[in-house]
Amino acid sequence: MAKPKRPIRPTYQAKPSNVNPPAHVAKTASRSTPKVIPLVIGGALLYFGATYTTMLVYKSKQDTQKDIERIESNEEVTTINPENFDTTTIWNKIAGDYDKEISTDEFWMGIGLLRRWLIGKARGDVLEVSAGTCRNGKYYKPDQVTSLMFTDKSEAMLDQAQSKFSEYKDKFKNAFISFQQASIQEVGQLKGQKFDTVIDTFGLCSCDDPVEALVSLANACKDNEDSRILLLEHGKSHYDWLNNLLDKNADKHVTKWGCWWNRDFMTIFNDERVTKELDIEQVSRWHLGTTYYVVAKRKSASKTQA
Ligand SMILES: C[S@@+](CC[C@H](N)C(=O)[O-])C[C@H]1O[C@@H](n2cnc3c(N)ncnc32)[C@H](O)[C@@H]1O
Repeated sequence: MAKPKRPIRPTYQAKPSNVNPPAHVAKTASRSTPKVIPLVIGGALLYFGATYTTMLVYKSKQDTQKDIERIESNEEVTTINPENFDTTTIWNKIAGDYDKEISTDEFWMGIGLLRRWLIGKARGDVLEVSAGTCRNGKYYKPDQVTSLMFTDKSEAMLDQAQSKFSEYKDKFKNAFISFQQASIQEVGQLKGQKFDTVIDTFGLCSCDDPVEALVSLANACKDNEDSRILLLEHGKSHYDWLNNLLDKNADKHVTKWGCWWNRDFMTIFNDERVTKELDIEQVSRWHLGTTYYVVAKRKSASKTQA
């Protein structure tokens, strides 16, 4: 049977007009627009959280498997801690493969965006500590930087940094660039050298004493209103279930990756020795709270002595 024909509706022709839309249209439009922003932010947080958790669970399963193999082969398992384990041995070993190993994880977790956001703030005389393979190199803005010094405790990592930076050095014709092997604890005492911006990304997890390291970063800053410490770190999460996973696998993780991934940075920032030297101006946390984006300021010498 032939379908009855639908009556043809006159096509609505939008007229260019300056007449206000009907009240219900205006209301719908104004109600839907603001919802987009929370949806995008919520979606991004969910995405980064889920990506981080997946990678973490995958890595912890790999580590657990290795642990079973170690126990089965009767290999001695000793308890390690920052006092008896220097991560530099690991960094010297993995320096050549580090970028290859980490790039995909960083890409999916959006770490490049956080690096760009943080490093874009660097200005004047800049010190980057625990510089690793110079993964921040491409995010510096040459017109904002007067000098740029990269330091790291591991010679092998610093060599990688130096060769990676050669890709960008033409952009920095007017800035003085240097590389120096130094531990994070030493940079506060570099002779005659103080900086407008002191940067550390994912280095406080690797050193033996993050409190002492933060005090050293404060001492490396010029004693003026404008100098800043910029940090991107990873450590304890907002959630106990995730912290349990980090704690359980901390020793395996440090022997493979040279970092203590379960450090409680909010407690570290509130340590009396840190609060005496630094004011934390901004902290935002990502990846279920495990990634910390921080802007801090050295307390002026006059305030510290008061
Ligand atoms: C996770 S990597 C981070 C590298 C780089 N900052 C980045 O964002 O990719 C940690 C770095 O900290 C360095 N490191 C470990 N202990 C250190 C210490 N006590 N002082 C200075 N650097 C240290 C390691 O050699 C390594 O290059």
